[in-house]
Amino acid sequence: MAKILVTGGAGFIGSNLVDALIKNGHKLVVVDDLSSGLKSYINKEATFYQLDISSDELEPVFAKEKPDFVFHLAAQIEVAKSMIDPRHDAKINLDGGLKILEACRLHEVKKIIFSSTGGAIYGDTDLIPTKEDCPAYPLSFYGIHKLTFEKYLNLYYHNYGLNYSVLRFANVYGPRQFKGGEAGVIAIFTDNAVSDKTSYQFGDGRQTRDFVFVSDVVAALISVMEVDYQGEINISYGLESSLLDIREALNKALDKKILVEEKPAKPGEQRRSCLDNSLAKKILNWEPKVNLEEGIEKTVTWAKNKNS
Ligand SMILES: NC(=O)c1ccc[n+]([C@@H]2O[C@H](COP(=O)([O-])OP(=O)(O)OC[C@H]3O[C@@H](n4cnc5c(N)ncnc54)[C@H](O)[C@@H]3O)[C@@H](O)[C@H]2O)c1
Repeated sequence: MAKILVTGGAGFIGSNLVDALIKNGHKLVVVDDLSSGLKSYINKEATFYQLDISSDELEPVFAKEKPDFVFHLAAQIEVAKSMIDPRHDAKINLDGGLKILEACRLHEVKKIIFSSTGGAIYGDTDLIPTKEDCPAYPLSFYGIHKLTFEKYLNLYYHNYGLNYSVLRFANVYGPRQFKGGEAGVIAIFTDNAVSDKTSYQFGDGRQTRDFVFVSDVVAALISVMEVDYQGEINISYGLESSLLDIREALNKALDKKILVEEKPAKPGEQRRSCLDNSLAKKILNWEPKVNLEEGIEKTVTWAKNKNS
């Protein structure tokens, strides 16, 4: 049994991770400012601190709790918001990140695991499926700050011996996803579909993303805890799915034709995205188990219960 601190543990991925770690018998501490996460998502067995990771309240929590492992998921996660207010993004994703790293160093954390992004780091690349060594040219402040924090981790490892791994997620989806999130398309379409509202499709619907179900992401996060690998690992389903595929899966899960209005394409929208997950298979002995149809069915079941 280990003492584990999860930043962002009231959020979509973080709260699913906390539940799984508690099930595995670990002692959990959650740090979250509830800016997008919900208190009701926090497992009752976890010790909860409501605070901003970029504040001075963070370090005393480490001093008191002395975690063995840290999963760092708290973040400003919206690409568009980062373009409107880059300094706010930097305050949370860089300054906040540095506060976490200093606390890990001072209190001798064994390992930190960082939730990073594939899509926003690789930018608009033709190298598909994209491997970890693809040149990184982020096209947003969010992507640049995520990449910069990965470099901070490497620096802390070399200078202070702080072990780390970085998991670069594709588009994560599933129960508890916040509708406005980075990869919100399944969350938005599902939420609208279960309440008979219209969703908007921009362009021909053939644009693709790589959608990975949250339980597979949680399994990958847990599997990296005991692995000695300081570097970046893609976590993805490894196949492209289009918006038309999502519509079809939702029609099937709900046994009706969901309401969609087609609008002109958004200028500059990335056409394709897919991450190569062979490194994760090799290093973590992990592979995704939930396909799009099954994952959407589970997400629909959750959304129906939430709305009932
Ligand atoms: N969802 C995806 O598809 C996806 C893809 C790539 C990477 N990620 C990364 O995974 C992590 C989790 O994302 P998510 O989708 O669960 O998002 P989320 O918004 O549901 O979770 C983020 C959590 O962090 C908390 N938080 C935000 N700012 C904070 C601050 N300053 N101090 C303390 N807590 C703060 C929020 O309240 C929320 O509970 C993020 O780091 C995100 O960048 C997510």
